[in-house]
Amino acid sequence: MRDENQRARVAEVLLGWYDRHARVLPWRIAPADRARGVLPDPYRVWLSEVMLQQTTVTAVKDYFHRFTARWPDVQVLAAAQDADVMAEWAGLGYYARARNLLACARQISALGGFPDTRDGLRALPGIGAYTSAAIAAIAWDHPETVVDGNVERVMARLFAVREPLPKAKPALTRLAETLTPARRAGDYAQALMDLGATICTPRAPRCAACPLAGFCTARAQGLATTLPARTARAPKPLRRGYAYVALRPDGAPLLETRPPRGLLGGMPGWPGSDWSDDPQPAPPLHADWQPVTGTVRHTFTHFHLELTVMVARAPQGAEPETGAFRPGFDPSGLPSVMRKVWDLATSADLSAPGLSR
Ligand code: ADE
Repeated sequence: MRDENQRARVAEVLLGWYDRHARVLPWRIAPADRARGVLPDPYRVWLSEVMLQQTTVTAVKDYFHRFTARWPDVQVLAAAQDADVMAEWAGLGYYARARNLLACARQISALGGFPDTRDGLRALPGIGAYTSAAIAAIAWDHPETVVDGNVERVMARLFAVREPLPKAKPALTRLAETLTPARRAGDYAQALMDLGATICTPRAPRCAACPLAGFCTARAQGLATTLPARTARAPKPLRRGYAYVALRPDGAPLLETRPPRGLLGGMPGWPGSDWSDDPQPAPPLHADWQPVTGTVRHTFTHFHLELTVMVARAPQGAEPETGAFRPGFDPSGLPSVMRKVWDLATSADLSAPGLSR
């Protein structure tokens, strides 16, 4: 971008496009309403941004509706039971976000409200560089530069940055900063996100519909679909394991609560083996364990997992080595991989030898 006037034009043109094409989203104040002075609720902005970390708008919408219906403001959420919040988050993934969400709600409640600066926000649990900038811009129109994966892609193309991600991140952030307008910073941040999600998409950008096409160096050089470059990620290893589903005659299944830190931390799960190249069976109680036909497959950030599911009937008085039987169990509170185990286990032929009711 040659000069400051041209950079100012980018923001102006993008905001004009947003006024016409902003997506309607449950946490968003439409640009026309914002212009009339309707203010965003920082609680909804914060909740949506935490949910949207590493998760798509489509996946988040229903969760956002359920959370805000059940916990309409930050004080109510701060008073919630941990297990209720974890169960409501189940299926959304990255469970450290839910633990931090509660810790954050409690701090905000104790502070008497949301900090209204990026630095104040950033000191809170679960709020990093991206989320603090997003909340400060969207909730308070502070001219902070909000850089997520969408914005990195838009910047790499606008400025034809050939350096591959993730190394190019700092350079892309600096370029993004040169475009952030002093006014309407919240609408501008959301406009860039919408552009990245609907027009400047990863594989087949719709340059013909792009309001910024005339400013885009990658387009001028025929590089729009090639950029951004990305250093190849290491392939994900495959790990295997066993998951054990024991049912008591009263229908109560045996579940553990996973350790508070680490993968699926604080969430309910089936007792199981290690997850590795060579998992060792580790049944949680003595029973006639039967393998279920089929395999549970799930992909985490850093590995693929294949689980063999073992099922057994446990006597009413069984005393497991780990976990506890849960009468009134509701599978909707399970994280996705554990839900898949349950679905496969309950599809098993429970009249098989050793499993008759
Ligand atoms: N992705 C992350 N935050 C978003 C927001 N506020 N609007 C649309 N997409 C988003």
